[in-house]
Amino acid sequence: MVLLCTLIGFFLTAASAVSGYANPGACSGHCWAHDPSVIQRASDGLYFKFNTGSGIEIATSSSLTGSWTLQGYVLPSGSSIDLSGNTDLWAPDVHLVGSVYYLYYAVSTFGSQNSAIGVATSSTLEPGSWTDLGSTGVASSSSKSYNAIDPNLITVGSNYYLNFGSFWDDIYQVQFASPPTNHGSNSAYNIEYNSTGTRPSEGSYMFYYSGYYYLLWSSGICCGYDTSLPPTGAEYHISMCRSTAATGGFVDKNGVSCTKNGGSVLLASHGTTYGPGGQGVFTDTSRGLVLYYHYADTDVGLADADYLFGWNTLSWSSGWPVV
Ligand SMILES: *[C@@H]1O[C@H](CO)[C@@H](O)[C@H](O)[C@H]1NC(C)=O
Repeated sequence: MVLLCTLIGFFLTAASAVSGYANPGACSGHCWAHDPSVIQRASDGLYFKFNTGSGIEIATSSSLTGSWTLQGYVLPSGSSIDLSGNTDLWAPDVHLVGSVYYLYYAVSTFGSQNSAIGVATSSTLEPGSWTDLGSTGVASSSSKSYNAIDPNLITVGSNYYLNFGSFWDDIYQVQFASPPTNHGSNSAYNIEYNSTGTRPSEGSYMFYYSGYYYLLWSSGICCGYDTSLPPTGAEYHISMCRSTAATGGFVDKNGVSCTKNGGSVLLASHGTTYGPGGQGVFTDTSRGLVLYYHYADTDVGLADADYLFGWNTLSWSSGWPVV
């Protein structure tokens, strides 16, 4: 296994010589990450990093590079959603709307379509400050074409949209009410679909930049690399499409529709960085748009417990983000 890892490391290193991706930015302190969500608190600029992990972790730091300190958990006793997995919440997505922070989370169990998306609110982001509002109404079971996990909110003017989905028919979107706690009578529609293989799109994240809405998602196998290493290229990587509307019409760099297998790669394994995904984007007050994600460092270990927090300031080329 050591020899295998060394060989894999060698080939990945050789591959990165031509990849051109920047390495993950520096991190110190509590750098473990899984499906991170990062936000700077409006009142004082303090960085907050939320993670999937035995409940939703809250870590803080005065700098994006650390040192990160684990402060506690968002809903330590779980969610009021009556579904298996409600004490082990996943995939946080945190946004400031007005003067309230909204944290969307998923309740599910691994590989199950019995899932729901919940929401909690806080005015400070701190442990102990979160109020669970329970289900947003976005839920799935075997009768649905999607799996209702991996939430991501985007605000467009005075309208709110929740992106979500994982495998099955991939990424969906539904318009939310105001305040953005539920979808009312709005129906969900598909915004990204990859018909190939296991249809492995999940963890979407949408952001706006200079006339376009960019839709990012994680494509591939997320987890368990230490026990079952995916074939090269089948591990997590970050794909993207863009549209002038937040609600559809997403295409890749070649103009291929995102609902017809389109998607350009934003970030993939390179050097000792393996399986980057679970990504998001936030506006850093000093750096501008920053992409963040989790990844495995092949020099550290491939287990989920070894995943690390990665980030890169986005640069731009011909209207597309570059790492
Ligand atoms: C579509 O899925 C295949 C695996 O079936 C994957 O290799 C490919 O990267 C995905 N395409 C996009 C654009 O994410």
